[in-house]
Amino acid sequence: MQLLETKVIKPKILYYGTPVILLTTLNEDHTINISPLSSSWGLGKYIILGVSVEGKALENLQRHPECVINVPHQSLWKNVEKLASFTGKYPVPAQKHAAGFTFCKDKYKKGDLTPGASNVVKPTRIIECPIQIEAEVKNIHIPEYDTVFAIVETEMLQFHAHETIIKGENHIDPIKWNPLIYNFRHYFGIGNELGKTFRSET
Ligand SMILES: Cc1cc2nc3c(=O)[nH]c(=O)nc-3n(C[C@H](O)[C@H](O)[C@H](O)COP(=O)(O)O)c2cc1C
Repeated sequence: MQLLETKVIKPKILYYGTPVILLTTLNEDHTINISPLSSSWGLGKYIILGVSVEGKALENLQRHPECVINVPHQSLWKNVEKLASFTGKYPVPAQKHAAGFTFCKDKYKKGDLTPGASNVVKPTRIIECPIQIEAEVKNIHIPEYDTVFAIVETEMLQFHAHETIIKGENHIDPIKWNPLIYNFRHYFGIGNELGKTFRSET
């Protein structure tokens, strides 16, 4: 491969391309909040989330340690963007207000999304999302070196998938599953398959 020159820059953001999730959490009045996030990763049966301390999601998770990690298909990007400038937190924190956020109580309505009852947690599942993961919060850690974000460790309790993306009994068909990628604040789908790892069972 050709040696390419690099340049040191100070990127304004570090969103280098991860799947969008829509996190549903329980409000104090037992309605549901939806928070778009892109900071998540899975390890075994655990999913780690990066959640702002300023938003409603963290407040809800601290009070009620359950959530659903709903993973939208790339075709749902406009629904995600409909939610992007809203917070379920009232009053809107000063910094969020300065960044252009306003309060929204009913995010399902705002995002043209549909709630469905979960099996084992109180927050609802988003019916339109092909993957919906009911999860329990195991730990919330706000690093002392920077108190802006919380690292939220969750454990998957139940994994739901649209039948259209399931292959065999317990696999997701990667040909049929197209997550929505948040790439430096732009939405992308994924392209064609390039290959697969030696451990792939599909
Ligand atoms: C595509 C997308 C990805 C986002 N990723 C994150 C994230 O990983 N962590 C986070 O705290 N906020 C993230 N945000 C910002 C939150 O969605 C925003 O703070 C929102 O107000 C949270 O809603 P809430 O305050 O009702 O929880 C993202 C927003 C969008 C649109």
